[in-house]
Amino acid sequence: MSAFPNENQQGEKLMMNTTRYFTKLLLVWLFIGIILSISKVYANNCVNCHKDPIFRTHNHKLYTYYQDWLTSPHQTAGLTCDQCHSGDPAAETVDAAHKGVHSTSDPRSTIFFKNLAETCGKCHEQVSGQFTKSKHYKSLMVYDNAPNCSTCHRAMNRKPYYHDIVDTTCRSCHNQQMLQSHAELAEEILRRLNITKGYLGWASLYYSSKDWPGTSKQEIQQINTEYHEILAKGHAFDLIDSDRTSAELLSKLRLIFEDAWKTCHTNKECEGIFK
Ligand code: HEC
Ligand code: HEC
Ligand code: HEC
Ligand code: HEC
Ligand code: HEC
Repeated sequence: MSAFPNENQQGEKLMMNTTRYFTKLLLVWLFIGIILSISKVYANNCVNCHKDPIFRTHNHKLYTYYQDWLTSPHQTAGLTCDQCHSGDPAAETVDAAHKGVHSTSDPRSTIFFKNLAETCGKCHEQVSGQFTKSKHYKSLMVYDNAPNCSTCHRAMNRKPYYHDIVDTTCRSCHNQQMLQSHAELAEEILRRLNITKGYLGWASLYYSSKDWPGTSKQEIQQINTEYHEILAKGHAFDLIDSDRTSAELLSKLRLIFEDAWKTCHTNKECEGIFK
């Protein structure tokens, strides 16, 4: 009797098959959805659209800024446009992506000159913290006449080098009338920091293979930390303080190198340091 299913049983079976079918379908769609949303997170549409080579001829400004990012330490560190400009990196159309993106001259923009200390300070807290203590920052907020992060670092990258930066930035404001001596002292401090950087580069290169004669790896690391602290503190533009700390650090390093030099003349093992 029950060999033939009745209408009710047939209906149930149909229901079960349909449910199973839709469950499978749902799972497939869920899977596709997850894949899509993951690829959306990773595909940054700011970069994807802005990298179009057509801008080279059609909008040279866009092309230049993209190239600037492409060769910057920020790009190497994985930063994308939206992290400084805001906007929606998952959106595909220009208008949707640009929600919140404004031009440099717009006070709402994250890159408006008065907002940069905050925008860059999200990641460079120590530097920004020092900068906001400076007379530069105060003057910038009240009179619009002092440098902000991009005056010296441009859009985003490149450590400014001393000979370049003093001539192209400091001297443009600190001329005869406005305490030229600031520019001269700044030049001297930056020259010292540059030599310090050279010594540190040398020492850390050496340390990747062996121990430095007479000085521990930790001591050199400590000096490296102090060096970066001096760079950050420099953004408070207390030149007297930077003058003292940069001179102390450099003479400490010079002593270490002199010691190593002496040791190396009597010790064959450290051949190769001073070549
Ligand atoms: C589909 C292409 C496309 C996408 C996606 C896109 N842009 Fe743009 N972007 C453009 C074009 C085209 C322009 C120039 C015309 C304009 O300003 O609308 C531009 C201009 C800009 C400018 C200059 C604005 C100005 O006023 O000069 C900035 C900054 C910018 N985009 C940042 C971003 C950021 C950040 C994102 C991602 C959140 C993004 N873009 C996503 C195409 C795109
Ligand atoms: C580390 C922060 C940072 C990142 C990352 C960044 N920018 Fe910028 N960008 C700036 C700053 C600051 C300025 C303004 C400085 C200036 O005027 O030169 C700027 C200016 C621009 C301008 C000119 C805007 C105007 O109003 O004239 C464009 C276009 C632009 N950026 C595009 C991009 C694109 C495209 C990317 C990603 C490929 C990107 N930027 C990544 C900080 C950044
Ligand atoms: C989302 C985080 C983030 C933001 C926002 C950001 N930076 Fe950076 N910045 C980094 C990282 C990460 C590095 C690379 C590691 C390092 O040197 O600290 C870096 C490196 C730098 C360097 C050193 C470059 C070098 O040659 O070593 C400078 C200068 C710099 N940033 C300036 C800025 C300025 C100016 C702004 C604002 C316009 C800014 N950054 C915004 C994360 C950020
Ligand atoms: C008046 C010029 C000037 C201004 C304004 C300025 N900087 Fe600098 N910045 C420098 C100089 C000079 C150095 C040191 C470069 C060197 O010797 O390698 C530096 C170094 C840095 C470094 C690298 C620090 C390290 O430890 O390697 C970062 C990051 C940085 N600045 C971010 C910023 C940010 C963010 C702002 C805005 C809040 C800013 N700077 C404003 C001139 C400036
Ligand atoms: C856009 C113009 C401008 C640029 C560029 C500029 N400054 Fe200044 N600077 C000012 C202004 C404005 C003041 C504030 C004067 C005041 O309030 O007494 C100032 C003040 C100073 C002070 C005095 C700070 C104090 O606490 O007494 C020093 C030091 C200084 N700047 C050094 C520099 C150095 C070094 C550079 C280059 C790396 C530089 N400035 C670039 C405009 C500028």
